[in-house]
Amino acid sequence: MVGTGYVGLTTGACLASLGHYVTCVDVDRAKVSRLSAGRVDILEPGLADLVDRGIAAGRLQFVVGARDAVRHAQAVFLCVPTPMGAGGSADLRAVEAVTAEIGDVLPRGCALVTKSTVPVGTSKRIQELVGRTDVPVVSNPEFLREGTAVADFLGPDRIVVGSDDLAAARWVGELYAELDAPVVVADAASAELVKYAANCYLALKLSYVNSIAELCERLGADISLVTEGMGYDRRIGRTFLKPGPGWGGSCLPKDTSALVKVAESVNYDFTMLTSAIDENLAQRDRIVAKIAGAVGGTLAGARIGVLGLAFKAGTNDLRDSPALAVCSVLCALGADLIAYDPAVDGEIAGMTVVDDAYQVAKDADAVVVLTEWAEFKHLDWAAMAELMEGIDVVDTRNLLDPRVIVDAGLSWQGVGRPRAAARITVS
Ligand code: UGA
Repeated sequence: MVGTGYVGLTTGACLASLGHYVTCVDVDRAKVSRLSAGRVDILEPGLADLVDRGIAAGRLQFVVGARDAVRHAQAVFLCVPTPMGAGGSADLRAVEAVTAEIGDVLPRGCALVTKSTVPVGTSKRIQELVGRTDVPVVSNPEFLREGTAVADFLGPDRIVVGSDDLAAARWVGELYAELDAPVVVADAASAELVKYAANCYLALKLSYVNSIAELCERLGADISLVTEGMGYDRRIGRTFLKPGPGWGGSCLPKDTSALVKVAESVNYDFTMLTSAIDENLAQRDRIVAKIAGAVGGTLAGARIGVLGLAFKAGTNDLRDSPALAVCSVLCALGADLIAYDPAVDGEIAGMTVVDDAYQVAKDADAVVVLTEWAEFKHLDWAAMAELMEGIDVVDTRNLLDPRVIVDAGLSWQGVGRPRAAARITVS
């Protein structure tokens, strides 16, 4: 397993739990020694336990140096980052560098498997780079969500394997034989496209929902009822229908941009996808406008309490977090930000990060929920109200119960739902 990020570490630990012998390689010596001691830096339920068990069973080890690690492998998985490069395309330098590093020492018949999300045609390119006919290249995209990566790996909806050498693809599929999941065997290009097509579809679905939420606000409808009514339709499904401050994270933004670029490369103008990306930016701006409205129209000098910074609940990942995107606009417009996230500490430019949710309420003109951590629902909102200067709560995840907020003497506004105004008490 080359690369011990979310994907490589989860895949390595889970394949070891299925009975395989796995060596995880990384260039980061300090990380390799932490992992060898069972210390996992990322917040991923069940992962540290699997790493411990794999090490104890002698089926999982961590080393520096890919060339030595692959010499006796039957399969080598490339799990290195493919970040957004110049102009929005996937940056394949890490994949290419590893391929060049190990190509000549791979044993005969060893499958070279791409787990990293790579544009269509990359398998072919890797095959050329390796320059050997006795090393089949197989695409085996991952569908792991951060925060539930172990559960997703061990209970997958499907396994996808693709190669121009179908026997090699089937063999890689058999590594997952312990799991009860359909295996889709495809040509290399189709397998590579599955990953982008799936992530981009999810992004389209979310932009659509955020647009419908905006319509709800303008038409006086309630998005929670609209999506409930839509979700019972099995063709639509009930998941990925929650509006929010926009979609983010380390995958959806980079994969949508990369697929637009891939489409451009074959002269296809993928307007549906570019609209979804534009809509995501518009959603962020609408959220900022909502927050500005809550503090009387001017953000300059307003004190905003922020609940949640991670790109979604259940993770400490801040990469392409919509919460941070909203905060950076608020900050640029002069707001004074005090933020709390149960999984995030340390310094973040443009805001004060505190380690207690109640501190964000202190003297705040408005409190904004940006990540859907369940614990925010269970705060003592009457105590929050006491601490606040203003009375507005902007709940960009529709997480809180509006009645609880109103009972605390505050006003609630969500996304695509009717506002719940504070009751005016006349004494
Ligand atoms: C995503 C895909 O869901 C995985 O299948 C894929 O393997 C992974 O990318 C990847 O390519 O590695 P992830 O980035 O962990 O997983 O995050 P998601 O759970 O998909 O959430 C993405 C964004 O959509 C988040 O900002 C989240 O808050 C937002 N979202 C999700 C909503 O706003 N509403 C929803 O109903 C669901």
